[in-house]
Formats: sequence, structure tokens, C-alpha cells
Amino acid sequence: MSIYGENDKQGQYWNEAPGQSWVSNDTAMNERLETISNILFEDLDVIGCNNGLDIGCGAGSTTRRLATIMGNQARVTGLDISEKLLALARSHPEISRKNFLQADAQSFTFEPASFDLAISRFGVMFFENPSKAFQNINSAIKKGREMRFVCWAPLAANDFFLSPLNTVVDITGLTFADPGKEPGPLAFSDRSYLFSILKSAEFSSINIDIVETSISTKDSVEKNASLLMEIGMGSRAIKEAAPTDEVLDEIREAFVVDGNKRLQNGLISYDATIYKVSAVA
Ligand SMILES: C[S@@+](CC[C@H](N)C(=O)[O-])C[C@H]1O[C@@H](n2cnc3c(N)ncnc32)[C@H](O)[C@@H]1O
Repeated sequence: MSIYGENDKQGQYWNEAPGQSWVSNDTAMNERLETISNILFEDLDVIGCNNGLDIGCGAGSTTRRLATIMGNQARVTGLDISEKLLALARSHPEISRKNFLQADAQSFTFEPASFDLAISRFGVMFFENPSKAFQNINSAIKKGREMRFVCWAPLAANDFFLSPLNTVVDITGLTFADPGKEPGPLAFSDRSYLFSILKSAEFSSINIDIVETSISTKDSVEKNASLLMEIGMGSRAIKEAAPTDEVLDEIREAFVVDGNKRLQNGLISYDATIYKVSAVA
């Protein structure tokens, strides 16, 4: 097995340039995802929870929030495949450095039934074998306790992904191949497929709510355009199209023009639709 367990490809991905982009844009992404974090944590029952797990915790924004909610006596672990992102997570003093663990959630040998709660903000859609990964996560959670995560609904309902993607496709002529159920942001956008994966992993009381929300930023249109060059479906398409510097400038300018159209009361906003998922181990 590689140092990335059974997810070598994604391990490399999140430890190379894309992981670095998430490090560089951590504050900017936390601002954009704040509403979605609120949805993730809404009504979360932490009574009697002493040991929490944040799966695919990235730079640890939700791990810190979970720790705050659970209180001083509780222990919280942030697990992620990316050392780059964990280095940033460990730089925050609120949680002990040793509570951030570099591991593949699919193949890591968890202490059985050791967590009272597991959460994730967009950190569970990148498994080669999702059924096996969720079985493994299930084994780590005490029987009767909750796993709660958010993931993306279909591309068509997510302007933050669709709009930059369409821009890149229009300018480069790239033929966009729907990634289907491949590991990636949209892997669980088919709700019944997601349900079947969680069922196969022996979760019960599976609830998948469709939540319409938005992604907003106070960033300038130029700064927002730079972020879209690095994160999201537009950036993935740019990587695939490998355009010249001239075409890259054209794409960036198109992102600026689109940002200006969206700008209202100092905010650039995109419609977003997510699934808020709750299941019991
Ligand atoms: C879209 S980012 C979300 C990061 C963080 N949860 C947030 O909301 O800022 C996806 C995260 O999942 C992590 N990840 C991907 N595959 C993983 C795996 N097999 N095991 C653990 N973490 C994984 C990535 O390294 C990355 O940090």
C-alpha cells in the first residue's frame, strides 16, 4: 500500500498543486463556505459526545468549530490524506497538533467504535471504493451514534461550479466529460446512489436533505477570479485544457466580467445546492 493507503491518486492530488491551492485560499474558502458550515452544524447533537472525528478535515476549520461546540473536556480528531493541508491545520493553536492525523479514511485502521460523532464538510467524495470507506468509517463510530456530512448536489444546481466550467469550455473548446461517480466533488450528486452506498456500509436512519443555499464573498472581482482559476470545476477544466498564457488571461477576464454581473451590495454570489446527510452507525 502507498503512503496514501488505498487512495494513491487522490493522495497525490491533494498533496500536490490542488492541495496547495486549498492552503493558499483557506480563508477565502472558509468565507465562501460559511453558510454551508452553518447547515452542517445546525441541530448537531453533541450531548454525551467526548470523542469527535472530522473526515477529510483539510485545514481544520470545521474541526475547530466542532471542538468549540463539544467543549474543553472533549477530544476532536481531524483526519486528512493531505500533509499540506494538515500542516496549516496544525498551525492553529486551538487543537493539539497530534490530534491531526494524516491517513486515508478508506483504509486507516481506526480503533473500533471509538468516536461518538463523525462529521465532514466536503471531505468524503474522494474514495476509490466509497462503500468500503464508509464501512471503515462506520466501524470507527460507536453504535447508535451519528455521522453527519455535506456534499454537493448535481452540477446543474451549483452555479459556483457550473458557471466557471461553462466559461472555460466556451473559451477553450474543451469537451467536458461528466465525471459520473468517479472520486471528485460531484461523486455523490446522485442522491439514490449516495443512499445505496451508505446502506451498503450498514448505516441506518439515513437522511439526505436537499438544501438550496448560496456561496458568497466580499472579495474583489479580481481576487474572486484568481480563486476560480485555482479551485472548483473551472480550475479542473483549465488543468485538462492546458491553455496558453494568453487563453488563461482570457479566462480570468471572463471570470472578472461574470463577477461584476453577480456583484450586489458588495457581495459576489452563486446559487448552490448541497445534500445534508445524517446517518447512524
Ligand atoms: C474539498 S476538500 C475539503 C476540506 C475541508 N473539509 C474543508 O471543508 O475545508 C476535500 C478534503 O478531503 C481530503 N481527502 C480526500 N481523500 C481523502 C481520503 N481518502 N482520506 C482522507 N481525506 C481525504 C482532501 O485532502 C481534502 O482536504
